[in-house]
Amino acid sequence: MAGRYDVIVLGAGATGMMCAIRAGQRGRSVVVLDHAVAPGEKIRISGGGRCNFTNIHAGPKNFLSANQHFAKSALARFTPKDFLAMVESHGIAWHEKTLGQLFCDDSAKDIIRMLTDEMRCAGVDLRLRTEIGAIEPVAGGGYRVATSEGALEAASLVIATGGKSIPKMGATGFAYRVAEQFGLPLVETRPGLVPLTLDPQLLQRLAPLAGIAAPAEIRHGKTAFREALLFTHRGLSGPAILQISSYWREGDEITVAIEPDIDIFITLKTARQANGRQSAQTALAEILPKRLAQHFAEGEGMSGNMADHPDKRLQQLAAAVQAWPVKPSGSEGYRTAEVTLGGVDTACLDSKTMQVKNIPGLFFIGECVDVTGWLGGYNFQWAWASGHVAGEAA
Ligand code: FDA
Repeated sequence: MAGRYDVIVLGAGATGMMCAIRAGQRGRSVVVLDHAVAPGEKIRISGGGRCNFTNIHAGPKNFLSANQHFAKSALARFTPKDFLAMVESHGIAWHEKTLGQLFCDDSAKDIIRMLTDEMRCAGVDLRLRTEIGAIEPVAGGGYRVATSEGALEAASLVIATGGKSIPKMGATGFAYRVAEQFGLPLVETRPGLVPLTLDPQLLQRLAPLAGIAAPAEIRHGKTAFREALLFTHRGLSGPAILQISSYWREGDEITVAIEPDIDIFITLKTARQANGRQSAQTALAEILPKRLAQHFAEGEGMSGNMADHPDKRLQQLAAAVQAWPVKPSGSEGYRTAEVTLGGVDTACLDSKTMQVKNIPGLFFIGECVDVTGWLGGYNFQWAWASGHVAGEAA
């Protein structure tokens, strides 16, 4: 005899727990299954251990999806304020870091504790270290899930097993296989919010810069992000690069502008007027980290006194710093990617409930769906919102 519930949720991550809480609060009997030893492992490591749990500015424009409108409904029905109200009701101290990003003051574990407490209050059964086997529709409605602890059946089955990022943490791509089993279309998956790598030649030239961070604007076509840029031993990273990586494709060029709020040409010109005997490198080092100033000044062959350099040369140096075309060779891949782009095609889902159209009782939520947020708390907001609306319907 299979154990019976109203709702089986596969995956005890952010979205699965949120869905289970809402369904449990509605009086549904709910079981959450996960192969991990603890729930919410990605929450635990998120935001440098402090969990950037939402972004107060989160809206559809902050998400990538083949259907830009799909996320609107869920995001409107469970907002950052709704999540914040839950956080505050548990007495969790928080702060806004920058750009609307909300973090725990103490630890991401506070968020996990809040979710597991809420699940307990809602009567949700959480089963960890449970391997999931075959899924079959049951004649007359519902689903049967084979597990290492025996078979379970429920009227509603919610797939909340996340994407492919960080396989070391238990990411499996399981949701995509379930989608395929039910004949659902997938949008091609790829690593998102990921550092970009450079070819060996460029990497060698940039090697002395590893570890340097600077404010930058990184552009890809019409999309641009202004945040920090970090030079690494493998290539480029930092929030600005992670953001643009979700838009970048192999073979594309990005444009890097360092210190985008400063007019470097005017600054150099003013420095030349003030002291024509200083070098361009010295003048540039007033704005940029020393090694970066050296890299660009040497790269443009700007040795000697500034007085000897006409405006055109100063403009060339400014362009090298602020219109620097870079062709990444690749990305660090799922090993370090924060999210998976693409996934279950939203065309087959009802945006109000996350239920598969024409397959009653089957839901996909969270990262496995083709909705991916920018860096900055947006991905958790999608997890909470899509989990909540599914929990209202499952
Ligand atoms: P998630 O991956 O969290 O959960 C899926 C669950 O399913 C896991 O518990 C897993 O064990 C389980 N599972 C998978 N396959 C299974 C199988 N075959 N059988 C049984 N169980 C299975 N976002 C943000 O908004 N703010 C932030 O600060 C950060 N920081 C951050 C840091 C790092 C290092 C990473 C990798 C990611 C972030 N993110 C983030 C992104 C965020 O973590 C991500 O968007 C959500 O965790 C997605 O939630 P889900 O519940 O959809 O998947």
